[in-house]
Amino acid sequence: MAENLSKHTEATPMLSSQPWLHQHGKEIQAFGTVRQFPLALSYETRMYACQRLNQLLADSQVLYALYKKHHWLMRGATFYQLHLLLDKHADEQLALVDKIAERVQTLGGVAVGDPRHVAELTKVPRPPDGCEEVPAMLSRLLEAHELILGDAHDAAAHVAALGDDGTNDLLVSDVIRTGELQAWFLAEHLVDTPLVRA
Ligand SMILES: [Fe+2]
Repeated sequence: MAENLSKHTEATPMLSSQPWLHQHGKEIQAFGTVRQFPLALSYETRMYACQRLNQLLADSQVLYALYKKHHWLMRGATFYQLHLLLDKHADEQLALVDKIAERVQTLGGVAVGDPRHVAELTKVPRPPDGCEEVPAMLSRLLEAHELILGDAHDAAAHVAALGDDGTNDLLVSDVIRTGELQAWFLAEHLVDTPLVRA
């Protein structure tokens, strides 16, 4: 920074509104740690909740990305409705991602954000880079939902036992309720029912 500043000063007089560009600094909070906030929740509880939330955050970010991938790659007779439905679910997952991340921050933790870090943490299987058949796309999304739902149920019970009612509420009221509803809408598209003649 000092070098950039001296170059700037040599070239033109420093203006008071000149932004201090190209700044780099050391990490001030490590991932996997929590700061002390006055929440009446123990250090151990906040550490545990943040770890569970970050796993769900990573998996939900991947589910969001899978929804967008399949929204783009959709094809066939039900293209239009599935194209729109998957985009709606993606929007809802993105809203959940924000809520989960901000719960981690509320507890004093560090939310996983960089997609390369997300890729290291997620337990959702990687899809092929290309395009699968439509029922396989939907099955893949359902399996991601079930993985997240199973983890969310387990985490919700454990954080409740530790007294973290706020995280329990987020997991039950948002993550689980939204995931269950989205899974229903997807699963109905995998029922092999006649379109015209019974
Ligand atoms: Fe789109």
